[in-house]
Amino acid sequence: MAQFWKPGTEKPRLLEDEDGGVVFLSSSFSSSSSGYGFASIEKQRQRLPVYKYRTAILYLVESHATTIVVGETGSGKTTQIPQFLKEAGWADGGRVIACTQPRRLAVQAVASRVAEEMGVKLGEEVGYTIRFEDVSNSDLTRIKFLTDGVLLREMMDDPLLTKYSVIMVDEAHERSISTDILLGLLKKIQKRRPELRLVISSATIEAKSMSNFFLSSKRRRALEGDELLRPSLEPAILSVEGRGFNVQIHYVEDPVKDYVQAIVSTVLLIHDKEPPGDILVFLTGQDDIDAAIKLLTEEARGNGKTSSGLIILPLYSGLTRAEQDLVFSPTPKGKRKVVISTNIAETSLTLEGIVYVIDSGFSKQRFYNPITDIENLVVAPISKASAKQRAGRAGRIRPGKCYRLYSEEYYLNEMSVQGIPEIQRSNLVSCVIQLKALGIDNILGFDWPASPSPESMIRALEVLYSLGVIDDDAKLTSPVGFQVAEIPQEPMVAKMIISSNELGCLDEIITIASVLSVQSIWFSIRGAQKELDEAKLRFAAAEGDHVTFLNIYKGFLQSGKSSKWCHKNFINYHAMKKVMEIREQLKRIALRLGIVLKSCEADMQLVRKAIAAGFFANACRLEAYSHGGMYKTIRGSQEVYIHPSSVLFRVNPKCVIYHSLVSTDRQYMRNVISIEPSWLTEVAPHFYQQQRHNPNIH
Ligand code: CDP
Ligand code: MG
Repeated sequence: MAQFWKPGTEKPRLLEDEDGGVVFLSSSFSSSSSGYGFASIEKQRQRLPVYKYRTAILYLVESHATTIVVGETGSGKTTQIPQFLKEAGWADGGRVIACTQPRRLAVQAVASRVAEEMGVKLGEEVGYTIRFEDVSNSDLTRIKFLTDGVLLREMMDDPLLTKYSVIMVDEAHERSISTDILLGLLKKIQKRRPELRLVISSATIEAKSMSNFFLSSKRRRALEGDELLRPSLEPAILSVEGRGFNVQIHYVEDPVKDYVQAIVSTVLLIHDKEPPGDILVFLTGQDDIDAAIKLLTEEARGNGKTSSGLIILPLYSGLTRAEQDLVFSPTPKGKRKVVISTNIAETSLTLEGIVYVIDSGFSKQRFYNPITDIENLVVAPISKASAKQRAGRAGRIRPGKCYRLYSEEYYLNEMSVQGIPEIQRSNLVSCVIQLKALGIDNILGFDWPASPSPESMIRALEVLYSLGVIDDDAKLTSPVGFQVAEIPQEPMVAKMIISSNELGCLDEIITIASVLSVQSIWFSIRGAQKELDEAKLRFAAAEGDHVTFLNIYKGFLQSGKSSKWCHKNFINYHAMKKVMEIREQLKRIALRLGIVLKSCEADMQLVRKAIAAGFFANACRLEAYSHGGMYKTIRGSQEVYIHPSSVLFRVNPKCVIYHSLVSTDRQYMRNVISIEPSWLTEVAPHFYQQQRHNPNIH
């Protein structure tokens, strides 16, 4: 085995011995998620570890306000528990069972799986809702999957979430910002609705701290009396014993320099030397996944022996339905599937057939610095808890192997035990406005599962004040504050939309907001960078990327929304269709808020002003021409550069506003528009007040 391991330098080391356990291979597990009859699906359900706990779960939910279910990924928590609850009558009388997920792709995937298991049409008895996509029916849907963010939005219309009998907060260990807000709010709702049941489910053992969080409310409520009328307030904890097989862990001896290259070599070695079984690779994001696929395809091609039989597939959130289906469909006989994924496959989704896992040791994480007021997605080391989860994916159907592209020493001594909850490393602007809209004014005093830092909170309040969303008493302003809260977009985008009313350019601004809501409208084809750049030039606007989007949208409409036209221009047709859908929804919402659908025709100054009215906090000024143009943020004096994908790359206008930052070797601004510095004090006098005499502005 040792000689087969090349990345880094050396031989792998065996940590845990394969225990030679029974090889579990049953026909139903290698069969597809489509094409089998009802009986087979029923049998599959009964085989899941969670099935044995059906009675226990139903009993605990009946008798406890909160039930915490811990069980390894793939044990059936997400797909089975909502069905158990429905079978036991929790959805009778028009009530609904909700199950939340932090990730949109997971919502779609589990909802369609559950609809299939129940033999119903997706969108009827079983439905789902994610931002900009509602596949549910208010009369028919009894089990509803939704993102935790969408459930938070539903609270704006129905603060006590009265239509739900049970709310299952799934993937609680991920500690996404919305999950944490939701947990805090649900704890409040429980006080008012003793009949509401919560199920908190999680893949790792952090049940105790979760239980303590819900326990403190027990003490409070005990003081309020009438406890006899209520279900037990002490949370129940149930641990589902999994059926995972042993996974051998291999480490590299020396740190890997280029993990994309290391992954490619490891895949080829496994394919060459190891028995059949699919490979799951954990990388960080779409960019490096695409790079790894490109390299793997090339190297496999150049290596006749190993090339045959590999099916290489990406898995990340921007995939179309068809691409997702490929990932979940069974591997044909004699082939080996290689799924290269973000950490979405860590716990949110279960892939059948995986025997080998390659763990890069990294994931993309959000980090926010309240001092510089900069938030970006950074490729950062994962925690031990994540590393264990990743390895566990290899042991679902039989003993497997996990190749870690980091050293054992690093794992033991340097890797942090748990990740930091997202709320402690995020910009809190969206979070604060959501809580304000729900009438929670004392945000620092809110009952958080983990408290955000006061600095981040103060920063968020300051930005919201500058946006005109909250007043001197930190209350939502009327109408702007309430309007911004109503629009399902981050507050800066929402403010941009509202400002377009006065400027008479809503038509253009909702197009821009829609394009900014999809991952990318460009279609990158391996090895065709030059053609892509040329296509971009055809639409490029001197003002910047946002105006370029308007040109593309116009071209798309003129082509009669043609997929051929998209193909010819390197534009992602699916993304454009999504843009159209989002645009329709934003238009409906804007009209409901009384914003008039006007176009400013060719006057792009108005469009740029509307962008500035929302995104003034992201204004930067050109400082030097070094490294292709060095900018500094006007407020925080942070060094930033225009991303090479921007049409303003190397154009370097004097003053720009960016939509987001990505950090690699430097901080890069993505989606950039040029503005006049004097607009800043016009649109955000408070924010730039102290800088009135700052030479950076005038
Ligand atoms: O939530 P948990 O990780 O405990 O498991 P689950 O998502 O409910 O998955 C239970 C089983 O359903 C696994 O064997 C999955 O492979 C299968 N499943 C599937 O085939 N297709 C899906 N879209 C989701 C789950
Ligand atoms: Mg799950």
